Amino acid sequence: MSNLGFNIAGVEFKNPVMTASGTFGSVGKEFEQFIDLSSLGAIVVKGISLDPWDGNNSPRIAETYGGMINSVGLQNDGVDNFIKNDMKFLQKHDTNIIVNIAGKTVDEYKEVARRLNDTDIDMIELNISCPNVKEGGVAFGTNALMAESITKEVKSVTNKPLIVKLSPNVTDITEIARAVENGGADCISMINTLIGMKIDIHRRKPVLFNKIGGLSGPAIKPVAIRMVHQVSKTVKIPIIGMGGIMNGEDAIEFIMAGATGVAVGTANLINPTATMDVLDGIKKYMNDYNITDLSSIRGIID
Ligand SMILES: Cc1cc2nc3c(=O)[nH]c(=O)nc-3n(C[C@H](O)[C@H](O)[C@H](O)COP(=O)(O)O)c2cc1C
Repeated sequence: MSNLGFNIAGVEFKNPVMTASGTFGSVGKEFEQFIDLSSLGAIVVKGISLDPWDGNNSPRIAETYGGMINSVGLQNDGVDNFIKNDMKFLQKHDTNIIVNIAGKTVDEYKEVARRLNDTDIDMIELNISCPNVKEGGVAFGTNALMAESITKEVKSVTNKPLIVKLSPNVTDITEIARAVENGGADCISMINTLIGMKIDIHRRKPVLFNKIGGLSGPAIKPVAIRMVHQVSKTVKIPIIGMGGIMNGEDAIEFIMAGATGVAVGTANLINPTATMDVLDGIKKYMNDYNITDLSSIRGIID
């Protein structure tokens, strides 16, 4: 019997495959008809803020070579609506619930975290890395002092283990990783999207209304692997790796680079069963190479 399970900050995961925030509907309802949601290691919910946010104007998604570029802008119905309307759906499934939180100010982030204290969610993922909102988001994630301080502040009001999601749009990702570890993060997730731009040469205009957006998908995988590897050599807390994972072999690459869990993002928009394909691919790899415990290959790259 192969063992795919692990524990992060007291939370047991049955397997490493999670959904990347924002790429699985808001809470996964649209995917229920395609896969058994209880087979996932965790559902990571789309970014949630204190008040409902409209998101950015359209067009806000475009295809690129090997991926896509988006500027959805964290559209969501707000934390109270999430608790009232979405928790019941999530609790029907035997999987961990991780809520990605966003805010325009530190106080907003803290209030969202506070309101989640009395719910049955398993962990909070602090999104300090969204490139598609004017205030908040990535501003906190590109400055080590701010990243450490917001981690500390949110940690001080939450009773849930805290994951901090890092932006790749920085000069030295290890500096930010060290900062959030010092701030008390229980886990790091990485990477969020890379800032990009696409131009429609016939209209002579950027394709996205917002001009710039976040690049995701297979095109960013080598960047993500490099960063997961660097960060895993820098911090002691576990890493959830993501960026272009399309199949089990991609996931194994992240695990060898040092990731404990993996999240599937853009692949969900191409193939609604992508998470299950990734899980099956991991099991096949373990079977092919007689690996009984995933921990035996975790972080094996020097
Ligand atoms: C349409 C879309 C919406 C996203 N929304 C969020 C979000 O709400 N919060 C967040 O932290 N990341 C968000 N992301 C980033 C993804 O969770 C993930 O970090 C990134 O896409 C890299 O993984 P991938 O290449 O597998 O998509 C979004 C990505 C996409 C493509």
